[in-house]
Amino acid sequence: MLRFALLSLALLGGGLAWAELPPVPVPAENPITEPKRVLGKMLFWDEQLSSDNTVACGTCHRPAAGGADPRAGVNPGADAGTIDDVRGSPGMRSLDVNGRPTRHPVFGDARQVTGRLAPSIFGALWADALFWDGRASGPFRDPESGAILIAAGGALESQVLETLANGAEMAKPGYRWTELTEKLGRVRPLALAVDLPHDVASALENVSGYPQLFAAAFGDLDITPARVAFAIATYERTLLADDTPWDRYIAGDTTALTRGELYGWQAMQDFHCVKCHVPPLFTNNEFFNIGLRRSEFDRGREAVTGDPEDAGEMRVPSLRNVGLRPRFMHTGEFAVLGAAVAFYRTGPALPDRDDIPGAGIYSFNMSSLSEADIRTFLAAALTDPRVRDEQYPFDRPVLRTERHSTDATQPEPPTDLEAAPGAHGITLHWRPARDDTGVADYIVERDEHVVAFVTENELVDPETTTARSTTYRIIARDSAGNESIPASIVVNLD
Ligand code: HEC
Ligand code: HEC
Repeated sequence: MLRFALLSLALLGGGLAWAELPPVPVPAENPITEPKRVLGKMLFWDEQLSSDNTVACGTCHRPAAGGADPRAGVNPGADAGTIDDVRGSPGMRSLDVNGRPTRHPVFGDARQVTGRLAPSIFGALWADALFWDGRASGPFRDPESGAILIAAGGALESQVLETLANGAEMAKPGYRWTELTEKLGRVRPLALAVDLPHDVASALENVSGYPQLFAAAFGDLDITPARVAFAIATYERTLLADDTPWDRYIAGDTTALTRGELYGWQAMQDFHCVKCHVPPLFTNNEFFNIGLRRSEFDRGREAVTGDPEDAGEMRVPSLRNVGLRPRFMHTGEFAVLGAAVAFYRTGPALPDRDDIPGAGIYSFNMSSLSEADIRTFLAAALTDPRVRDEQYPFDRPVLRTERHSTDATQPEPPTDLEAAPGAHGITLHWRPARDDTGVADYIVERDEHVVAFVTENELVDPETTTARSTTYRIIARDSAGNESIPASIVVNLD
C-alpha cells in the first residue's frame, strides 16, 4: 500500500519532466581557471579587503547559513521600532574620510546594518541581474578606465565592485581603488583568518603575497580592481550546489526524497510555487511583489526601471539551500522557514501584489497539511550536504570576527617602534606581538588620523608632510576588536 502510494506520487510529481541543473554561464572574457578560482576564494574570505579589516565577503555570505548571513542586525528604516524595520547584515562601523571610527547618526558606535537581508550567493550564478532589485547587471566596465571588459553576463563581476566600494559594507568614505590595490600588494593573504582550506593553504605555499597569486591567475603581477572582480566572480561560479536530494530524485533515484518530501514537492507544484520558484534553479530570476510590505518602504525594482508597475518587486530568490537560511525575505522578517511558508497561506493581500504568472490571482486554498508538507520539502530536500557541512568546494577559513578573545583584557601594545624617513616616505617598524597574545592587526595613525589598518609589523607612509614634526601612533587590536594603549613616536624632519 505504502509502495503504491509512493509510486503514484512519483508519477504525479512527474520527476522526469524537470530538467537537471543547466551549466553555469561563464562570460568568454573571464574563463574559469584553477589559479583564478583559488585567488578568488582567498579574496572572498579575506577581511583585509575592507577598509578596517573587519569585514570579508564571507562575513555576510556563509555556506552553512545557505550562502546568507547567520547574524542579523536591525536597520530601522526611516524611524526605529516600526513596521519598516529590516533585519539586515552588520557591515563596518561608520568611518570618516581618514578611516577613523565616527559616530553614525543611526547606528552610533555599532556596526552599520544593510537595508535589506543578505541573500544567498548561490542563487546568483545563473542570473542576468543581481541584488534583490536587479541593479547589478551584465555589462562589466573597468572602474578605472571605463572600458567594457565583459560585454554581457558579467553581473557577478559588477556586483563585487559595488560591494567593495559600499560605505556600509566594506569601504570608508572617499574610497579610492588604489587603497585596495596597494593594500593587497602589501599584506599577507588571509593574515586574519585561521584554519585555511586545503586548496588555499597549498596555493600559499612558496608564495610571498598577492602579487604572485595575481600573476598565476592573470599572467602578470598587476593588481587591479577589475582583476579582483574577475577572481571573486570566478570563485562564485564554481560554488555549484547541485547535489541535493531533489537533484538525485530528478536524476532517477526514487528513494532520494522521503515520503513527506514527496508530498511537499507535489504541493509546491499544485499551489503554483514552481511558477516563480521554477525548478531546477527554483527561481525564474524575475521580479515580483508578493505583497509582503507596502511598496513605499522599499520601491525594489521600480528604483532601477523607473516603472511604477514594478513598485515593491524583488527578484525571486532561489529556494536551493533555503532550509539552511536563518532568515527569509528581503526584509528578513521571518526567522523560521515555517513562517515564510505560512505567509503564502495567511498573508494579507496588500496593494501592488502581483498575480502568479499563468495562474491568476494570488489566493491559495492551501490546507495546513499541505503547508506542513511544503515545509518538510524545503527544510532538507533542496539542501546540498556539502554546503551544510562546509566541505569542498564550500569549505572556508575561520574569520577573525568569528573568534572571540578568551578574556576582555587589552592586548599588549607594540614595542620597539622605529621610524626612518627615506626617499619613498617614512618607514615605520615595530616588534610584532607574540602569536599567542591574540593581536590580529594594528591601527596606524599619523597626527591623529588613521592612515592604515595593517596586519604586518611594518608600513611605509608615502605622504610627504610639510609639518616639521609628525606623530605616529600604533595601536594593536585583538580579534574581538579590543585596542591596546598606543605606542607613539615623533618624527622630526629637520
Ligand atoms: C555587510 C554584509 C555584506 C558583505 C560584506 C557582502 N555582502 Fe553581498 N550582499 C549583502 C546584501 C545585504 C545583499 C543584497 C543587497 C540588495 O539587494 O540591495 C548582497 C547581495 C550579494 C549578491 C547578489 C545575490 C543575488 O542573488 O542577487 C552577491 C553575488 C553578493 N552579495 C556577493 C558578495 C561579494 C562577492 C562580496 C565581497 C566583495 C559581498 N557580497 C560582501 C550583504 C553583504
Ligand atoms: C509570484 C511569484 C511567486 C510565487 C507564486 C511564490 N513565490 Fe515565494 N517568493 C517570491 C518572491 C519575489 C520572494 C521574495 C519576496 C521579498 O523578499 O519581497 C519569495 C520568497 C520566498 C521564500 C523566502 C526565501 C528566502 O530565501 O528569503 C520562500 C521560503 C518562498 N518564497 C516559498 C514559496 C512557496 C512555498 C510558494 C508557494 C506556496 C511560493 N514561494 C510562491 C515569489 C513567488
